[in-house]
Amino acid sequence: MGAGDRDRWNDKWAERRVGTSHGSQLVELVVPHLPESGRLLDVAGGGSTDSLTFARLGLDATVCDVSDVGLIQSRQRALAEDVIISTVEVDLDTEPLPAGPWDVITVANYLNRDLFSSLVDALGPGGVLAVVIATVTNLERSPKPARPFLVEQDEILALVDGLDVVHHTETWRSNNRHEAHLIARRA
Ligand SMILES: C[S@@+](CC[C@H](N)C(=O)[O-])C[C@H]1O[C@@H](n2cnc3c(N)ncnc32)[C@H](O)[C@@H]1O
Repeated sequence: MGAGDRDRWNDKWAERRVGTSHGSQLVELVVPHLPESGRLLDVAGGGSTDSLTFARLGLDATVCDVSDVGLIQSRQRALAEDVIISTVEVDLDTEPLPAGPWDVITVANYLNRDLFSSLVDALGPGGVLAVVIATVTNLERSPKPARPFLVEQDEILALVDGLDVVHHTETWRSNNRHEAHLIARRA
């Protein structure tokens, strides 16, 4: 599935050329919970502009993704805007998460259930995990994302077992998607 993911997402990022295509509210969700400095990992951030925003806010931001095309777009945008980010090309189906500990981990619009225990383990003490992901209710208005990419109602809470949940809502958003938004913290 990894090589397939890379080709598929390389095509998508090459076609889009601009950050997130569906008005992700990851930044708005996590900003009130960010430390003033520290290491942030944006998981499956691709060519999204989110990592640049986090770097501008003072975080040492790394974005990891299977798509080298998406990561090149992020790097080019960072260079053009005089912002420093790091990128790591990784297939999270088969390869480990970039080494922690991380002060903040963000995941938007990417679902890999097996990865969650690694995300929890990779947080340092007091570390924050932020997740934005569409739920199965989204199928009432749109066939995409398809069901394998959607969480069941309240499933996200079980996926972050071991963390303290600071914020959790599941509702229709202004981008017309039904999403789970979660902030959880490691003790
Ligand atoms: C819907 S996009 C979300 C991008 C960004 N987080 C956002 O919200 O705009 C899904 C991302 O997951 C990445 N991805 C898909 N499969 C992956 C894998 N096996 N390993 C790492 N990244 C993967 C894609 O390259 C793509 O950038």
